[in-house]
Amino acid sequence: MSVMSTTLDADLCAAAQAHPNIALIKYWGKRDVPLNLPVVGSLSITLDTLWTRTTVRFAAELPADRLRLNGREDAKQLRKVSACLDLLRARAGTGLRAEVTSYNNFPTGAGLASSASGFAALVLAADAALGLGLPPATLSEFARRGSGSASRSIFGGYVEWALGDRVDGEDSVARPIVDAAAWPLRVAVAITSTAEKAIGSTEGMNRTADTSPYQRAWIDTQEADLAEARAAIAARDFERLAAISEFSCLKMHALAMAARPGLLYWNAATMAAMHEVRRLRATGVPVFFTVDAGPQVKAICLPSAATQVAAALREIPGVLNVLETGLGGPATRIAVADAVAA
Ligand code: DP6
Repeated sequence: MSVMSTTLDADLCAAAQAHPNIALIKYWGKRDVPLNLPVVGSLSITLDTLWTRTTVRFAAELPADRLRLNGREDAKQLRKVSACLDLLRARAGTGLRAEVTSYNNFPTGAGLASSASGFAALVLAADAALGLGLPPATLSEFARRGSGSASRSIFGGYVEWALGDRVDGEDSVARPIVDAAAWPLRVAVAITSTAEKAIGSTEGMNRTADTSPYQRAWIDTQEADLAEARAAIAARDFERLAAISEFSCLKMHALAMAARPGLLYWNAATMAAMHEVRRLRATGVPVFFTVDAGPQVKAICLPSAATQVAAALREIPGVLNVLETGLGGPATRIAVADAVAA
């Protein structure tokens, strides 16, 4: 189908689903803010039972883009969504505006990477609606423009987002390194607050870059962490992955805590859950933690320990809920009817 005939179609509508991902080796800091180019590479796992489902409908009668997120009009996210759609419109040679409807089956904006699954699903749905069929690397690049970590949610399993060195960012895209089924770890997410976080990732990482005295050390030490994590994953060496992942998490928080004013994403229950994970590991339970720019604790474990880990986290005062999930696949197209029945 030519671009012209595509843009003249009556109903340019498609839906997609994407999963959030959790970084084991963290992304924190941008070398180019508008392009969302990172100062470091990062490595993540994509989850399975948590999802964003998004429908995008381009239509001539729409005077402007519209976004409904979890059943409500969302003006706050609309600017970023429009900017992301502009990338796809430019490829399709169309000026059509779009109506975007998106649902998350997990709390939005609480350190659970809803922007990652959100922009990955958006880009894939828009690509399908416009009949573009862009390659996954380009979808990853466009998702990155919406939110850095979204570049990784285009793919399933173990995923690495390359630092890249081009100024246009075309080489700063994610790629899958190992399938979820090849090493099916489990994740228990301890929810310790459902409030929207006070300082979002973008603001937090920009403040960190501007004021934290540890920024240079963060950048200089990341490549070694990535190499260590890649080796641990290739060898399916859980203890090795546990050590490097906790190191990267604590190093990122130490860096951010040293910003001015310092960024404190943890609450008392976050801290208690981290201690509990370490206590369990000391007794031989294969589990480690990671924490992003919010108060939730993600406990990653071997499947044999999943029930015990989730039960232990549920006992902690201040833990409101524990979500249990495995590792999931890439962003996929789904039927429009399935996207609305959230
Ligand atoms: C702590 O991808 O949400 O979760 O690029 O500004 O949208 P923007 O930030 P975002 O940051 C994620 C930060 C992190 C670490 C990670 O996911 O690697």
